[in-house]
Amino acid sequence: MSTHPTTTTARRPIATLTGFKPTGELHLGNYAGAIRPLARLAADEQRDVYLFVADLHALNGHPDPAVLADRAQRLAAALLACGLDRPNVHLYRQSRVPAIARLAALLSNVTAKGVLNRAHAYKAAVAANAGAGRDPDHGVNMGLYGYPILMAADILALDADEVPVGADQAQHLEIAVDLAQQFARTHRGDVLREPRALITESVATLPGLDGRKMSKSYGNTIALMADPDAVKDAIRRIVTDSTPPDQPKDPDACTLVALLRVFGSDSTVREVETRYRAGTIGYGETKALLADVIEQHLDPLRDRYERLRTDPAVLHERLIEGERHAARRADRVLARAMTAIGL
Ligand code: TRP
Repeated sequence: MSTHPTTTTARRPIATLTGFKPTGELHLGNYAGAIRPLARLAADEQRDVYLFVADLHALNGHPDPAVLADRAQRLAAALLACGLDRPNVHLYRQSRVPAIARLAALLSNVTAKGVLNRAHAYKAAVAANAGAGRDPDHGVNMGLYGYPILMAADILALDADEVPVGADQAQHLEIAVDLAQQFARTHRGDVLREPRALITESVATLPGLDGRKMSKSYGNTIALMADPDAVKDAIRRIVTDSTPPDQPKDPDACTLVALLRVFGSDSTVREVETRYRAGTIGYGETKALLADVIEQHLDPLRDRYERLRTDPAVLHERLIEGERHAARRADRVLARAMTAIGL
């Protein structure tokens, strides 16, 4: 046994952080594009994963309290069920880590209003109002307008190194980096860690029932934790063209194959692609095959999810544990920020 301590060379873990808004049911697009890639990152023990239910981010839409609470519970259970129930994953509700909202209040003072004016979600609201001939800020509350500040606080309060997000969140990450730098310029250099965005590749963008990107806003989703019959039913409704079974088909132009590529084994995918080109498989058969493949993938996840749903004490314990851990870390960052400011 060596007498020399080896721990001096040990690297600190990478802090990976991401959040999910509890604004609807998770669907297969969320799973393929965000949750599964995150579970792969989390499988690396070198990472500490900070994973949260972004409940404060849901408030600008004024959800019904019971609905919000239920969605937050389901989301937490689903995340754990999808391979994220690991010792190096800290799951928490954003609202239960008070330092986040307090840091957001501090960050607002180094946030140029112009930055928020240019944020995509706000600009989209303004454009919609212009189209409808309304006041530009009609229906815009400060929760929506200030969303990028709160999101920056989510990230900066936990000293995140890397933030895996979809391309639609890239601007929010740029704003978070900008606010960290702005804080450093205004106060002191070494308080807030600048995060780096890990933008999920578009390869992981799943098509929905109509062939467009699977998205809640298009109403073309397949729910992640739906019962098997609902999943089969949704797959049956996937839109294809009307090429008959015995005619050659282009696998690259078909939603069924795109879904199969995400969930099927390489050999299954290759076989189906070959049969598409040869004209020896019809859409009905492909749909049945796809339903089997997806069902095999989802069955164990659904199982774990149902168990967590029927035993809320386990979920509660995980959340309390994660919240304690996250709060300790965020309190330290907040204390640094307050000291730098002179509070
Ligand atoms: N804005 C993200 C979304 O709409 C959710 C989110 C909130 C988030 N805070 C975050 C993601 C911090 C990553 C890091 O999907």
